[in-house]
Amino acid sequence: MYTQALDIPQQNQDKGPRVVENAQYQAEFDARIDAGGYIEAKDWMPEAYRKTLVRQISQHAHSEIVGMLPEGNWITRAPTLKRKAILLAKVQDEGGHGLYLYAAAETLGVSRDELLEALHSGKAKYSSIFNYPTLTWADIGVIGWLVDGAAIMNQIPLCKCSYGPYARAMVRICKEESFHQRQGYDLLLTMMQGTDEQREMVQDAVNRWWWPSIMMFGPHDSESTHSEQSSRWGIKRISNDDLRQKFVDATVEQAKVLGVSLPDPDLKWNAERGHYDFGAIDWDEFRTVIAGHGQCNVDRLSARVKAWEDGAWVREAALAYAEKQAARAKAAA
Ligand SMILES: [Fe+2]
Ligand SMILES: [Fe+2]
Repeated sequence: MYTQALDIPQQNQDKGPRVVENAQYQAEFDARIDAGGYIEAKDWMPEAYRKTLVRQISQHAHSEIVGMLPEGNWITRAPTLKRKAILLAKVQDEGGHGLYLYAAAETLGVSRDELLEALHSGKAKYSSIFNYPTLTWADIGVIGWLVDGAAIMNQIPLCKCSYGPYARAMVRICKEESFHQRQGYDLLLTMMQGTDEQREMVQDAVNRWWWPSIMMFGPHDSESTHSEQSSRWGIKRISNDDLRQKFVDATVEQAKVLGVSLPDPDLKWNAERGHYDFGAIDWDEFRTVIAGHGQCNVDRLSARVKAWEDGAWVREAALAYAEKQAARAKAAA
């Protein structure tokens, strides 16, 4: 169901040509990666490369669609028609990002049903950031500014990822993410020009989202299990810690313009390094949320499963229509 119109060997089922260990294929693959070239859906690839990409792209897709939930929660309560229209467009974009990414994962010979089953059963991961609650309207602005901002830092290098279908999906996603970041910042600037209560609301949201945003870059390089191999394969171009530093450096300046403080007493400019130093990250919290014990893990998953079940009739109708069309085409031929 829903696979793309591509003739892709099911590597894990029929032992198609790509799964065969072949020294010559491997050498050609390595040479292309070393030259900065792209690997396409029908090219031979090592099984571990394929599995890494399926894991990464599907986690990314799951994060996009689970990420619709904390913000979708505020569509009915947006303060103005303009803000409602912007938020609707943004949440729809995230749904679109999920679709491009599931389609990119499918080119690796895995079905969308399998991927969604892994999400619904709790086997697959998605970004820990979406297990935090959105308590006030200011959270919507802060999510755009910090969460989409961190996502852009993470995702721009993926536009040059060695797997072509993923890289091309990311080009479009990054363009839309930059709109998301700008709308969040614009929302916050507006609130900061409002009442004291609104300014307090913004500061409170920044205090709650700052550390989880910093955690979005994942564990330190020294503790990141997949980083080294992913760099060799050209999937990961910049390390977790370097991306995190880039994000902190850019964001501190934006916080000054906005007029908010960031909740880290150790945050200060280090002239020698030419970067901001920042405090220690609470990795216990990160691991707890990833393990399913964040504030909203249960809610998020049950909302996804409910959406899947409520949408069953759409999938059935689409399948019945496709079968009817195919039968008609066959009869005509
Ligand atoms: Fe997105
Ligand atoms: Fe976004």
